Amino acid sequence: MKLLITGAAGFIGSNFVYYELDKHPEDEIVALDLLTYAGNLKNLKGCEGNEHFRFVRMDIRDRENIYKLFEEEQFDIVVNFAAESHVDRSIEDPELFLRTNIIGTSVLMDASLKYGVKRYHQVSTDEVYGDLPLERKDLFFTEETPIHTSSPYSASKASADLLVMAYHRTFGLNMTISRCSNNYGPYQFPEKLIPLMINNARHDRSLPVYGEGLNVRDWLHVYDHCSGIDLIMRGGRNGEVYNIGGHNEKANIEVVKTILKELGKPESLITYVTDRKGHDLRYAIDPRKIEMELGWKPVYDFNTGIKETIEWYMDHQEWMDEVTSGDYLHYYEQMYGNR
Ligand code: NAD
Ligand code: TYD
Repeated sequence: MKLLITGAAGFIGSNFVYYELDKHPEDEIVALDLLTYAGNLKNLKGCEGNEHFRFVRMDIRDRENIYKLFEEEQFDIVVNFAAESHVDRSIEDPELFLRTNIIGTSVLMDASLKYGVKRYHQVSTDEVYGDLPLERKDLFFTEETPIHTSSPYSASKASADLLVMAYHRTFGLNMTISRCSNNYGPYQFPEKLIPLMINNARHDRSLPVYGEGLNVRDWLHVYDHCSGIDLIMRGGRNGEVYNIGGHNEKANIEVVKTILKELGKPESLITYVTDRKGHDLRYAIDPRKIEMELGWKPVYDFNTGIKETIEWYMDHQEWMDEVTSGDYLHYYEQMYGNR
């Protein structure tokens, strides 16, 4: 099988490349990424030299070059991780989110139809369902929960999902969609809650908690997200949506306090700051469909996963320093500049 993995130098995409090379060493992978501020080619350093792996720097909105690539490579499966992914940035600049997340998706689907891709998989998010009330612990997102978005980010992801389903119905695109809850694990860009807090705590800087820190997220280790996508894209039913989540709901303040405790830092570093506009209260996934249809099960519980993740960032301080200083942006030129 030949796979195209877009957004492959980002957090989840890079973890997914490693997952696929490990689980399906016979497959060939083309890893595509534009290398925006969120894309770090160093995340894929461990794949260098693997004959089943090739990196391509490309914009998913660049129709001409995307078509050329699809014509050359004749992919069996396309998995689209490429996106603008940070809610706070979408509040500052919505338009970029529309261009990348919606238009980019349509280009990849047009190419998939034109060049006979067997399965197009769209990596979506539980944020398309909006939020749940804090006091209703009995409510969960199922695949039937209506789309009801809060931020420009989630609205752009929901628009992409609707377009993927429209391509299925109108053009017969063979597709699946996965909607996962918040991920944590190695290689996450330190603008997101967990790596940001680890990095600030490491430097004894204040930890900015939005509002009162009571918003709840349903955390899943990135490895378990990858195993879910792998099952769906290979064995999921054509035209279906699958939720992925492991019932690990935590209030933000709990997560932040866990990080401080693990690092032996004082809670006095916590600073409550102005809340995010439109801040979703609670996310919680009902994963029964993927469990029952595809036999998916997460391997990580939050306590083990968060400890391992904190250790990973402490063992990879050079990675963190390069990302926060911006040095990682030069790596592509070093590696590919003269080729
Ligand atoms: P990320 O921001 O770390 O990675 C996104 C990657 O896409 C980056 O490497 C970036 O360079 C690349 N990219 C951006 N625009 C591009 C373009 N025009 N062409 C090619 N590449 C481009 O994000 P992530 O956290 O790894 O998320 C990956 C996907 O998973 C996204 O679609 C996101 O919506 C979804 N998702 C994320 C989470 C989470 O908790 N992080 C949860 C559920 C779903
Ligand atoms: P984030 O990692 O941005 O993911 P998302 O908004 O997609 O869920 O944020 C996770 C939660 O943490 C969210 O409720 C916002 C909150 N948060 C803070 O309190 N402080 C921060 O500095 C950041 C980045 C997030």
